[in-house]
Amino acid sequence: MTERTTPRHQRLLVTGGAGFIGSCFVRDLLARRDGSRVVVLDKLTYAGNRANLAPVYADPEQAARLEFVVGDIADAAVVGPLVARSDAVVNFAAESHVDRSILDPEAFLRTDVLGVHVLLEACRLEQERARRGEREAAPRFLQVSTDEVYGSVETGESREDDRLEPRSPYSSAKAAGELLARSYFVTYGLDVVITRGSNTYGPYHHPEKLIPLFLTNAIDDQPLPLYGDGLQRRDWLYVADHAGAIGHVLEHGVSGEIYNVPGGNERTNRTVVAALLERLGKPWSLVRRVQDRPGHDRRYAMDGSRLAALGWRNRTTFEAGLAETVDWFRDNEAWWRPIKSGEWNDYYDRQYRARLAGSTADAGPGVPAPAVPTPRPASPGSSGEGA
Ligand code: NAD
Ligand code: DAU
Repeated sequence: MTERTTPRHQRLLVTGGAGFIGSCFVRDLLARRDGSRVVVLDKLTYAGNRANLAPVYADPEQAARLEFVVGDIADAAVVGPLVARSDAVVNFAAESHVDRSILDPEAFLRTDVLGVHVLLEACRLEQERARRGEREAAPRFLQVSTDEVYGSVETGESREDDRLEPRSPYSSAKAAGELLARSYFVTYGLDVVITRGSNTYGPYHHPEKLIPLFLTNAIDDQPLPLYGDGLQRRDWLYVADHAGAIGHVLEHGVSGEIYNVPGGNERTNRTVVAALLERLGKPWSLVRRVQDRPGHDRRYAMDGSRLAALGWRNRTTFEAGLAETVDWFRDNEAWWRPIKSGEWNDYYDRQYRARLAGSTADAGPGVPAPAVPTPRPASPGSSGEGA
């Protein structure tokens, strides 16, 4: 973000602004020095981290334009007064990890659905105040959604009007959240825009996700748990491009519209892992084939022509973005080592202990060995974790 033009929305409420993508959005926005003021509302769950905003706090001019509120988007008493003094709300706050949604779905419903509802209700109240002339205009509401709402896409590219077929508790909750947001546009005429981003990567990425997990494990010569055959495909989007696209839609998006935000870098997981190991100078022998994620979506791919027509272009190639990411994790152990402690150990144990115990070696990036069986949902009365 380098432009210095006066933004349409100068007082932003950024929920989840201490997370991976939200903090990038806040850092990049404040670095533009265009006078915008940001209130971050973040519950500081295991995924939230004030250290993600360290570059802002290190710069007095930027720090003066940031206010940080610790709180829950599902808490109307906290949300109402913050929305009342905002021109726009950008909702990044979410439980965001598919594997955790399979272990414990409930938190996903509370934040990704009820939290969105509370934010929308606060915006609706402000819209009424605007209609009564008590404020200039109703706030714009941008819901940050995901390509996962389309479900697994075997061929072709999802378009914004395609059917939603989410398949995990995470993606189902995200779909519910964005459907609610859209319903407030249709029913109440609220100024709502929605983005659906693809798999994002970059600095400050929580180590529970594929790229940072494998990077940080490889730095420590720990096993890399590759699910199933590792031939699942994702479309990788550099975090600054994702944050930039969201800023672009906030400024220029048509009310009521949905915008896909693809990365344009479709890769199999094997290809991604091979590239990061090569950059780190670590061997493929660290890779272990483990039991697959239940209901694992095979592929995501989106058509980005609507966003392109709005004038947005990504700036970072996958090769450049991955190199930057690998180097950042190698150089910033002080950021990620504390995250991989405490609660992390319980999560890692639940998610990976049995998987790693039953894992097999993998011959190499391009040579998938026979797949480790995918677990099936347990049938009523059965006690196992699925075959
Ligand atoms: P993240 O998990 O890194 O960050 C989420 C942030 O939300 C954290 O700071 C957390 O503390 C905060 N939060 C969680 N529950 C909250 C609550 N109830 N109230 C207030 N704050 C709360 O997530 P991320 O990867 O930065 O994703 C941000 C958004 O983008 C999410 O909505 C996610 O669904 C969406 N998205 C992510 C990706 C991706 O690849 N990471 C891709 C597309 C869309
Ligand atoms: O597509 C957008 C989505 O991308 C976002 O909405 C989610 O918030 C974000 O977490 C991400 O979801 P994925 O499930 O695609 O990301 P994850 O990093 O968990 O996994 C990427 C791929 O790597 C996926 O095919 C599963 C695989 N994987 C992941 C982990 C954590 C492994 O093989 N081993 C692992 O240990």
